[in-house]
Amino acid sequence: MAETRANGSAQPHGADSEYHNQLTVPVSPNVPEQIPELLEKVHNLGKTVDVNNTKERIALLDTVRALMFALETPREAMIRHCWSWTTCLAAVEVAVDLGLWHILAKDDKPKTVDELAQATGAEPLLLSRILKHLCSMGTIIETGHNEYRRTGFAVTMTMKRFADSYPCMTNCVSAAALALPAFLKKNGYRVPMNGKDCPFQTGYRTDLHFFEFFQKFPEVARQFNNHMSAYHQGRPSWMDFYDVRSLYNGVGSDDVLLVDVGGNVGHDITEFKRKWPDAPGRLVLQDLPEVISHAKDTGLPSYIEPMAHDFFTEQPVKGARAYFMHSVLHDWSDEKGREILKQLAKAMKPGYSKVLINENVIPETEASWESTSIDILMMTLLASQERTASQWQQLVESAGLKITKIWTDLKGAESLIECELA
Ligand SMILES: C[S@@+](CC[C@H](N)C(=O)[O-])C[C@H]1O[C@@H](n2cnc3c(N)ncnc32)[C@H](O)[C@@H]1O
Repeated sequence: MAETRANGSAQPHGADSEYHNQLTVPVSPNVPEQIPELLEKVHNLGKTVDVNNTKERIALLDTVRALMFALETPREAMIRHCWSWTTCLAAVEVAVDLGLWHILAKDDKPKTVDELAQATGAEPLLLSRILKHLCSMGTIIETGHNEYRRTGFAVTMTMKRFADSYPCMTNCVSAAALALPAFLKKNGYRVPMNGKDCPFQTGYRTDLHFFEFFQKFPEVARQFNNHMSAYHQGRPSWMDFYDVRSLYNGVGSDDVLLVDVGGNVGHDITEFKRKWPDAPGRLVLQDLPEVISHAKDTGLPSYIEPMAHDFFTEQPVKGARAYFMHSVLHDWSDEKGREILKQLAKAMKPGYSKVLINENVIPETEASWESTSIDILMMTLLASQERTASQWQQLVESAGLKITKIWTDLKGAESLIECELA
């Protein structure tokens, strides 16, 4: 006897069904019933999409990805997870180390493996294998036998901020993520709460907190800083969808308009000045001493006032119009986040100062893969988390502040959580 499956086909019962499933399910499309609708959606979106419009392009890309998940078989998904992600990271990093991207990206002409081997000094056989994989992962284009051409990705990899993301993953991220299953098994499947005892320490065999690790390994810190700034490039920025002009009220030229707390090397302030050149007041960049000194070494523009400051200590800039924090609170547990916010609350001028938190607000349903990935990374690296709107509200209120509005532009991109003293 047979019953009807969701996709309408007949399926045998009992022991037969088990046998049938083991043979067919792993090699059948993952969610067959979704395929017709997704194909039609891709077709319709494709007819009108403006690929230079981020929202339209992402809507199409999300649908194509959903189609791929529905269409691929479980076996293919498993092989893709297990084989391609780690090997892609490795192959791109090898190409970074060899300077291969620079040679490939020099011009649009195809390059042979022999030419590339001669230019990099790598063994041709080794290089041909790496190049084949880079091509199968979509990073370069094959133009003939052992011959490849650059893509936009190849050109982007010549930019150090982007290329550094790969050694950054090797040196301070990937091993922590891979240590998560064993860590959770050992700790009874509880949310990690201690940034000095989380998968990062297991993965990198260290007692150091993630940020202490950077003090010991400045080269890794530099790679991480570059990764952060590359990650932000081209994302909708809070200053594009927030009412920036509302901050101008009451700000004179000697007043501090914005303090970028944990602002790293100043990329957010630089973008702010570029987009809002006439904004009144001073712009202060705060971070740990070694980060501020790195920022100064890389040549900070004169409109940025650099200031070494530990945000767990008293905020030295009193009564600023706005204390801005981007991707800072997601590094910390609620307890530590509360301490950071309380230091700001003490420095704020009632009825005037704001705290602007630029972070992911994870929706209750349909969270994007970028947000969920970074949430798991936060768990593994820092025992911290991305937060939903209600989790943000709880945290902010516990520090004596209140949320006045959550400004959101694009799904999966950071929101701007605007807060005042309660
Ligand atoms: C995830 S990064 C975000 C950087 C930047 N706001 C951005 O969005 O690109 C967190 C920043 O917090 C800084 N940080 C960590 N601990 C700190 C502390 N105790 N005081 C001040 N800054 C700190 C780090 O150096 C780093 O620059």
